[in-house]
Amino acid sequence: MLKLIPNPGILDIAPYKAGGFLPEDSKIWGLASNENLLGPSQHTLSAYQKAYTRLNRYPDQGAVALKKAIADLHHLSSENILLGNGSDEILSLLFRAYVGIDEEVILSENGFFLFPILAKAQGAKAVLAKENNLTTQIDAILENITPKTRIICIANPNNPTGTFVPLVELKRLCESVPSNVLIIIDSAYAEYMVEGEYGAGSSLVDQYPNVVMTRTLSKIYGLAALRVGWAYASTDIIAVINRIRLAFHVNSVAQEVSIAVLADQMFVQKCVAHNLYWRNWFEKELDQLGLEYQKTYTNFSLLLFKENSGVTAQDLQEYLLDRHILTRALNLPGLSGSCLRITIGPQQAMEELVLRLKDFFHESKKALSN
Ligand SMILES: Cc1ncc(COP(=O)(O)O)c(C=O)c1O
Repeated sequence: MLKLIPNPGILDIAPYKAGGFLPEDSKIWGLASNENLLGPSQHTLSAYQKAYTRLNRYPDQGAVALKKAIADLHHLSSENILLGNGSDEILSLLFRAYVGIDEEVILSENGFFLFPILAKAQGAKAVLAKENNLTTQIDAILENITPKTRIICIANPNNPTGTFVPLVELKRLCESVPSNVLIIIDSAYAEYMVEGEYGAGSSLVDQYPNVVMTRTLSKIYGLAALRVGWAYASTDIIAVINRIRLAFHVNSVAQEVSIAVLADQMFVQKCVAHNLYWRNWFEKELDQLGLEYQKTYTNFSLLLFKENSGVTAQDLQEYLLDRHILTRALNLPGLSGSCLRITIGPQQAMEELVLRLKDFFHESKKALSN
């Protein structure tokens, strides 16, 4: 019999559930994981074909060229850039470095699912701050600060709600939080944001040494498979993380392709425009169907189903999957009822999706009135 006991907190974790993996030859529209279905671009694929000629060599441990490409694009300094095997690795390293047993991490009630997992993995308590209208509330976060608080972690815009906190509010948070608390601003969807009040957070990193902004190439850049994330942070924080990270965590192919992808800003602009157009279109269709949804600022939409409405998000998820559209049914801690998260996809996917939604609600209305 196994007598090994894992560290405190680990057995309380429900393992992270991804949106669902689709095999290469699948005829299913994968709208469950907020990936960019317009990618990878032709430019990326050509870079990929060039990048695998040196597979016998270890990657550049310092990833100098990739850090420089990120720094140049965002007008930052290379020495403040930290890379990771996806931004989830960076988040995990930050939690490992800065929070421990019986300490506290403050999260927004319906924040990104990974955050409470990372807190529990450290034996720490995940404290959930109440939201208003599925939106992170800075005052609720501030009210929850105790001497045990070590990290405050906010996804902005947030997944799965699609809502965001304006930069001035984040600044108010940074001003009010004790400087021994790490503030992580996870800006995975920053490139999709067009609202003037939004800021990804680099200006806050410049002003407050206890703030880190994390970013990813998995979303708009369409590079989720290669696992590249980055953070902008003080050199002191980077020096801490460099002590605990694995030496070759970002592989050479990922490094080379990322440089090419970052250079293709035309692709990014095309994706932003596509997302705006089809998101608006989709919300208008939802209005016509009389469906409730959370107004989104990202590349995914959240349909809301009241308790006792006779229909659940799970029902709709199954119906759509039978018709080759993969979406993600969720139950959120701060929401009664259920919700369905749907990625904004290519035109054909969106048109098929709306046709199926019309069929589903037509059929379920008939069933409910019987
Ligand atoms: C808010 C948020 N942060 C971080 C991630 C992780 O991204 P990756 O590890 O692919 O960089 C995701 C992925 O869904 C996300 O939604």
